[in-house]
Amino acid sequence: MYLTKDEERLLESENETVRKCMEILVAEGEANEAERLIEVKSAHISGVSYDNIGDGGLEWLESLDAELKVPATLNPAGMDLERWREMGIDEDFYEKQMRVLKVFERLGVRMTLTCTPYYLLKPEFGDHLAWAESSAIVYANSIIGARTNRESGPSAIAAAIIGKIPYYGMHIKENRAPTIAVKIKGDLAAAGYEAGKVLRDEVPYFIFDRSVTEEELKLLGAALAATGNTVMFHAEGITPEWKDFDVPEEKIEIEGRIEGGCEPDLVTVGCPHASPKELEIILSLLKGRKVKREFWIFTAREVVRKNQDLVKKLEEHGIKVFSDTCMVVSPATSKFECVMVNSGKALHYLPKNRKVNVRFGDLKSCVETAVS
Ligand code: F3S
Repeated sequence: MYLTKDEERLLESENETVRKCMEILVAEGEANEAERLIEVKSAHISGVSYDNIGDGGLEWLESLDAELKVPATLNPAGMDLERWREMGIDEDFYEKQMRVLKVFERLGVRMTLTCTPYYLLKPEFGDHLAWAESSAIVYANSIIGARTNRESGPSAIAAAIIGKIPYYGMHIKENRAPTIAVKIKGDLAAAGYEAGKVLRDEVPYFIFDRSVTEEELKLLGAALAATGNTVMFHAEGITPEWKDFDVPEEKIEIEGRIEGGCEPDLVTVGCPHASPKELEIILSLLKGRKVKREFWIFTAREVVRKNQDLVKKLEEHGIKVFSDTCMVVSPATSKFECVMVNSGKALHYLPKNRKVNVRFGDLKSCVETAVS
């Protein structure tokens, strides 16, 4: 990979963190046959929950010492920073998690603690990004038309410190061409869950048989990236680059329908983190009825701050609206037997990460189950 004189100097930097970060980027670039590095507008860092990174990750993070070149945001941690006791998080976990966050704060990373950074700092069409968090990557590439590969936690940190990322994959227009056309029917989160298993790393061109919302596309993309490796899709008539390429000849059909499952003792939505619109929909679906089961919503703290009345009303119905964390990366959900979700991504990861049984339903059935 070609490096400028300045970039070569960073590889020899006296600052060990800068040197390590350059080494990470050069290794990524060479493994993917990138020609050079390219400047990025922002980085989004995953691997924040102490539950995911453990003591090894914490030790590595604590060794870092450098300034950020570009704004960086942070994925969810393992607990709500204010209501961690209520979630059943123990002191030991709390302390370790706070040590992780202290590192990011010291480095100057924004304490967003959300997988939906695009609700806070929306990138623009064509921006090059270094984002880790598979659901945010699909959203940024597909719905916004920004450009990012699937970065890891360490490569996103390296990009934030160097301000650059290797130029390959989704950063190059021709690699964003759709490779397969897929007709989608039924629930989009369920369809994404099924489609990811079949499509793996294809760039699908979706055709819908009805009008769909941005929230549904968010759930579709998150599920696709969870059961497969998709980093981008096009949606006919909707996403910004759908007209830029020929429609692939190969066409398949996928129906999103998942039925049956266990009797939930927790209903939870907000994977990816809920938008203000999703909070409003939940409130209207409740029709004044209180929930009779545990019902947890996960969203960004910034969304809670800007929608305090809405959150208060939801909580008056017996719902708990947690921030900074989620049902998958927090150990708090492990204590339940059966968790109901409207997210294909949570459906995929909850049995693996939290060892719980899962049931799937759309948002309406989640609310109906919670009030019954
Ligand atoms: Fe976000 Fe957690 Fe789902 S990080 S996408 S809510 S698994």
